[in-house]
Amino acid sequence: MGIKSTPRHVAIALGGLALAITSFGAIADSSGKWSSGKEVYDKVCGYCHEPNPGLAPNIKGAQPNDVRERVRKGHRAMPPFRQTEIDDQALAQLVDFLK
Ligand code: HEC
Repeated sequence: MGIKSTPRHVAIALGGLALAITSFGAIADSSGKWSSGKEVYDKVCGYCHEPNPGLAPNIKGAQPNDVRERVRKGHRAMPPFRQTEIDDQALAQLVDFLK
């Protein structure tokens, strides 16, 4: 599944990234800050991946390996996330939630 990669979409996604990083700043000081995979999805991934705004494809049911790789490495308009943003435990919960 892909995304219509018009420059406008990319610009919106990058704007979202800047906003996302700003909001992480306030909370990204320790691991264990996420209470569940759903919370990570709702507060981080859903920002782009929910049907509204629909900046990125639906990822519910995505393969665990794809999710791990995308989250750590990013891909095109999708930014990577570091340990300080989404720690390994939260990533595991997130992978579980998306299954
Ligand atoms: C700033 C916006 C943004 C955020 C936040 C974001 N993504 Fe993405 N993601 C994208 C975009 C855009 C793509 C499509 C990239 C491409 O293939 O060009 C994508 C693609 C993906 C894909 C591949 C889907 C497919 O069918 O090709 C997965 C898996 C994924 N993201 C997982 C996540 C997870 C998990 C999170 C939360 C930790 C997340 N993303 C947060 C923008 C975002």
